[in-house]
Amino acid sequence: MTKRANNRKNEELRDIKITLGVVESADGSCYLEWGKNIILATVHGPRQIFPKHLANSEKAVIDYKYRMAPFSVTDRKSPVPGKRDKEISLVSGYALESAIQTEKFPNTVIDIDAVVLSADAGTRSAALTAASLACADAGLPMKGLVSVVAAGRANGDLVWDLDKADEDTEDAVDTAIGVLFPQKEIVLLQMDGFINQKDWKKVISMGIDAAEEVYKLQKKALLEKYPVNG
Ligand code: CDP
Repeated sequence: MTKRANNRKNEELRDIKITLGVVESADGSCYLEWGKNIILATVHGPRQIFPKHLANSEKAVIDYKYRMAPFSVTDRKSPVPGKRDKEISLVSGYALESAIQTEKFPNTVIDIDAVVLSADAGTRSAALTAASLACADAGLPMKGLVSVVAAGRANGDLVWDLDKADEDTEDAVDTAIGVLFPQKEIVLLQMDGFINQKDWKKVISMGIDAAEEVYKLQKKALLEKYPVNG
């Protein structure tokens, strides 16, 4: 077994620190530090949707935007959203839709913004995890929480939660897995790299286990801010 550059065990998350309700102007928010990733997620709404032809008479429209701040990466990123940002936003929005009781708010839009302030791989996972918490912080009626983490291969080993050093190893495989808890349903799956079927099944199962650890941290943060008997 090759040692990971970051000294983590193969089945070990980076340190995750969650702070809820940090943005006063938003209905809900979450500041998340996940290893060297830093994310700020906010929720505004539900509010009336304009132009009106975008409305859905049966449910709220989820408008999720994943963005990387220009200063979040070493080679300054253009502030103009590219194909990658749009694709991540779209699939993450579908995942969030499965967690929110959108049918309670027909003809409205819920704006959910996740900004990556500092990036070290796994930002789509961290952003969606933070966004899910911001939705709960906003008091939106939820079916569950979306917990997201990458699993895959680094240095030939199957591992949880790849950071940039892991992702930059030869033959790396990076699979973002989003799970709706407590239902334990996969609601997001995106993969980079090539892998055989046996290892792929293992990666999925590792990703679900890792996501469950993320879910425990999310629940803990919510219960600290909103004690059940408090
Ligand atoms: O962040 P995530 O793993 O979800 O997405 P990725 O496309 O696999 O990107 C991995 C990492 O590459 C990011 O977290 C950044 O650290 C870096 N990156 C970058 O430096 N510049 C970009 N335009 C995009 C990504």
